[in-house]
Amino acid sequence: MPARRKLIAGNWKMNGLHAAGLELATDLARRLASAGTVGFDMLVCPPATLVHPVAGAVAGTPLAVGGQDCHPKESGAHTGDIGAPMLADAGAGFVIVGHSERRQNHGEDDALVAAKAAAAHAAGLVAIVCVGETLEQREAGQALAVVASQVAGSLPAGADAANTVIAYEPVWAIGTGKTATAADVAEVHAHIRATLAGRAGKPDAVRILYGGSVKPSNAAELMAVEDVDGALVGGASLVADDFWAIAETCR
Ligand code: 13P
Repeated sequence: MPARRKLIAGNWKMNGLHAAGLELATDLARRLASAGTVGFDMLVCPPATLVHPVAGAVAGTPLAVGGQDCHPKESGAHTGDIGAPMLADAGAGFVIVGHSERRQNHGEDDALVAAKAAAAHAAGLVAIVCVGETLEQREAGQALAVVASQVAGSLPAGADAANTVIAYEPVWAIGTGKTATAADVAEVHAHIRATLAGRAGKPDAVRILYGGSVKPSNAAELMAVEDVDGALVGGASLVADDFWAIAETCR
């Protein structure tokens, strides 16, 4: 099996004004640069307003920058939306697509998520494709089927280990302080890995992140789970010490 380098990604969501955002990103970039050789990649996804200034502030360091969403089209009459080439132009190397907050709050379905991922690829960005079941679906015993169907429907043609990362984020674990058990995470990640076969190039090398209330106190256990190749962190990624402590579990 190919070695998969862990990816520790922070999703700032709709948080971050200029001064504090730059301070957080430069603090992390400094820690990463002075840590020397580590066993993980680190990424921050600030709000769209901060992608360019943050990318400029951390340029030349190993800290990567990403967007939180993109439109399936390159450009055009789409007020308020952001095209993937704009994110790339602003200094992003990644973009999150299909986050459950967008699936729920903006009615995004798998076909739209796949189109967004395709747009990300065309712009040279790595797409972080998010999937995850609701509490209702889990309690009905549908978690594996729901997640597999989201993976199958949300991956565009041409997805491979170099241009795509999957993030498994159970909806009921996001921002709630509840985390899935290591056994549940292992089961879902193994199912995602199996689902990737035939749907993504080099499926064994695709990184599968876990997200949902990841914090310093539970990160070591979650990051040690088979087929967990990193974390997509919300709240704890807004505090430099906490985000760094999560990353250090993969050092
Ligand atoms: P929390 O870490 O705040 O639960 O958010 C997880 C998430 O949605 C990351 O994309």
